[in-house]
Amino acid sequence: MDQSIKVFAPASVANVAVGYDILGFALEKPGDEIVARFSEKAGFRISLITGDKGKLPYEVPKNTAGFAAYSLLKHLGESERGIELEIHKKMPFGSGLGSSAASAAAAVFAINVLLGSPLSKKELLHFAVLGEQVADGAYHADNVAPSLLGGMVLIRNNKDLDVHTLPVPDKLYASVVYPHIKILTKDARGVLKPDVPLDKVIQQTGNMAGFIISLFRSDFDLLSRSLNDVLIEPQRATLIPHFYQVKKAALDNGAIGCSISGAGPSIFALSKGKESATEIVNAMAKVFSDQGIQVEKFVSPINQSGAIRL
Ligand code: HSE
Repeated sequence: MDQSIKVFAPASVANVAVGYDILGFALEKPGDEIVARFSEKAGFRISLITGDKGKLPYEVPKNTAGFAAYSLLKHLGESERGIELEIHKKMPFGSGLGSSAASAAAAVFAINVLLGSPLSKKELLHFAVLGEQVADGAYHADNVAPSLLGGMVLIRNNKDLDVHTLPVPDKLYASVVYPHIKILTKDARGVLKPDVPLDKVIQQTGNMAGFIISLFRSDFDLLSRSLNDVLIEPQRATLIPHFYQVKKAALDNGAIGCSISGAGPSIFALSKGKESATEIVNAMAKVFSDQGIQVEKFVSPINQSGAIRL
């Protein structure tokens, strides 16, 4: 009865410039931790939430981790079983780093391990996306899939969760800055025009295809030419003060490409090697700190593990 399972699921960068709602990669840190254990009391409940400054609800249907876990338990016919979940938020939310997705991914992974791993990680994905949907109302896996599965993930189709892990060149590093500015994903989705001009679609499709080829060939030059968002970034950049200065700082310091992480306000850059990634993140962060904006920075290779048991 006292067996408890502790897991970690990492932050992620969604969209990756060219794949709005269909591309994402996992970082090594930060991430969330979840503990799942059997309990004497019948039914599923959230017993503890830490690190959220009291902001997250204990009501299961309103909580991304709780709803993801409950949806999985229902599917497995275990929703009446006494199980409790602890959620330990170890990363900022509303950051554009897939915080709610990390909680949802960790929750389904923890429950699955507790029950003897009846499902594969890919089979868990749907339930984690249901949890993530509680946060922003849309069913998309571009944060949840990398957080759960690890790696650079392409979601060919969100509806069917036709998910594919892409190869990642050796030494590909991400530099990420999180300025303490509040942007709600719902609002960042709301600013997007439903229709896009045909010439932009043509450019973005070419960039997306080039991006995929560059990963298969480890071609950093093609990656650099391809990592260019002509659809979403121009519409969202105004939500992030100093965005273009930060992007310029990243590119001037050797970044392969730079864009908004998920719905923002975090900004990511890709580069070759840890040393370069560190220089880039420092230059990006300096733009915000010079403007008196508090900023956190992360440097990470692409995390290939996703959710793990601790
Ligand atoms: N693809 C999503 C967006 C990621 O950009 O709105 C954030 O949930």
